[in-house]
Amino acid sequence: TRRIIIDTDPGQDDAVAILLALASPEIEIMGITAVAGNVPLPLTSKNARIVCELAGRPDIPVFAGCDAPLQRKLVTAEYVHGKTGLDGPVLPEPTMPLQEHHAVDFLIETLRREPAGSVTLCPIGPLTNIAQAFLRAPDIVGRVQEIVLMGGAYFEVGNVTPTAEFNIYVDPEAADVVFKSGVPLVVMPLDVTHKALTTRPRIEAFRSLGTEPGRMVAEWTDFFERFDMEKYGSAGAPLHDPCVVAYLIRPELFTGRRINVEIETTGKLTLGMTVADWWRVSGREPNALFIGDIDADGFFTLLTERIGRL
Ligand code: BDR
Ligand code: CA
Repeated sequence: TRRIIIDTDPGQDDAVAILLALASPEIEIMGITAVAGNVPLPLTSKNARIVCELAGRPDIPVFAGCDAPLQRKLVTAEYVHGKTGLDGPVLPEPTMPLQEHHAVDFLIETLRREPAGSVTLCPIGPLTNIAQAFLRAPDIVGRVQEIVLMGGAYFEVGNVTPTAEFNIYVDPEAADVVFKSGVPLVVMPLDVTHKALTTRPRIEAFRSLGTEPGRMVAEWTDFFERFDMEKYGSAGAPLHDPCVVAYLIRPELFTGRRINVEIETTGKLTLGMTVADWWRVSGREPNALFIGDIDADGFFTLLTERIGRL
């Protein structure tokens, strides 16, 4: 089994990613660390607990982390995810407690305690918590097995500015720390997630499971879908974050290239851009496996089957 820490800002697609991990025996979630992103930290740390309880897993430790980017003011995305971050279904208040420890302390202590190379980090929000841990405890960087993250874009370029993807844009300095860390990176950019669309039949497959988690996923994806369909007329909404978890379970669903990726932290028009050297023209050493394609039908088949186990 792959032992992971999910760093997240739920977010409907984050919620589905967490459910996929909880439903999958190939994965052990050591903890969930919440970060400010789609909505502010009090909501993301609450939403992560709602999702654990929905899956019948109140035993998963959930930690609150950074409430703002390293150097910038927080930018949120209620226009996509709704006021709560998990708009769609009516949700109960969580009863499981938030851990008292700060998420950054949990990351540092876990990586120091566990055998080197045995813990994978799965960031699916802005990279603030991870960068903060690396800056405060450089000794943990070499102990991370791998980072598999959702963020950035190449051909698909930006969804929050013309050149930047949300997770990287919110905290570009943090992303810069992570991309320069030397930890093996796997990156799920918009190029991939925009191929994982929640079409009608795919949403109905979740609903047809006839379970509470199945219904929740259907209602979340219904809500999430409205934004893209109304704004872009697309066939469904990109289900970004579950791609990270699916990669851990079925890497053969994805293809990509090992390339160099750097983060723009000063550009006037390009702040937060992932400058991806897809054609390897820079001469800079590859630092990431940048995913370019996904078997979307295989991905949704896996996701539906796993949500059905909950
Ligand atoms: C990313 O931004 C958030 O809105 C989603 O949860 C995802 O992590 C996509 O750009
Ligand atoms: Ca997210």
